[in-house]
Amino acid sequence: MVRPMGLLLSLSLLPLGAGQKAAPVGAEADLSYTADGQMRAPVHYREWVYLTSGLDMSYTAAASGEMQMFDNVFVNPAAYREFLKTGTWPDKTVMVLEGRRAEQKVSINKRGRSQSAGLMGLEVHAKDAKLPGGWGFFEFGPGQDAAKMVPRTADCYSCHEMHAAVDTTFVQFYPTLIGLATEKKTLSPAYLKEIAPEAGAPAK
Ligand code: HEC
Repeated sequence: MVRPMGLLLSLSLLPLGAGQKAAPVGAEADLSYTADGQMRAPVHYREWVYLTSGLDMSYTAAASGEMQMFDNVFVNPAAYREFLKTGTWPDKTVMVLEGRRAEQKVSINKRGRSQSAGLMGLEVHAKDAKLPGGWGFFEFGPGQDAAKMVPRTADCYSCHEMHAAVDTTFVQFYPTLIGLATEKKTLSPAYLKEIAPEAGAPAK
């Protein structure tokens, strides 16, 4: 996300609890596809590991007056545990970004922002050796339970490849993981170049 893009800016809200099926916990595979190769929307990602929340993140200067939005990022626990050991993501990593509207003056709140109960949409970034390129993006609108992979030509891929700290994921914004990736030296060459104080500066 972090671009004025379709789904998460759509005003339609998913009613609380919609799309949540009562599958027994542990019965659902983290990554699952329909017979015709579409990804099934992850159902239990709210029981996964929480990585961060962003508020109105954007690469373009803010155009004020727009609706404000939080994004919350989660990853499947098996992949998280592997990241703690290696500093990078294993095959079958599933990362979910959900969008929620930033609301004001709800209940007793007088200042600041809280998150809407309704979901604006889900975006998934999944590592799967079966996908072209090894990683794929998927977008799910409110109530949508299966989605085709976003085509490789979309800007999702180029921005993540050019700017994300670890293996096309934005670990520089995941506070519990960036130190670990730095320690394990798994930061991507593109990211290292981006944060280098000055290109071509003499090494100390
Ligand atoms: C201009 C850069 C940019 C573009 C284009 C972009 N993203 Fe991202 N994406 C980000 C940033 C920055 C984050 C970190 C969000 C945070 O910290 O809350 C992120 C995080 C994510 C995550 C969480 C997992 C991860 O990889 O870190 C998903 C899922 C995601 N984006 C999906 C998408 C999809 C789907 C598209 C295309 C429709 C897209 N993004 C396009 C910058 C971008």
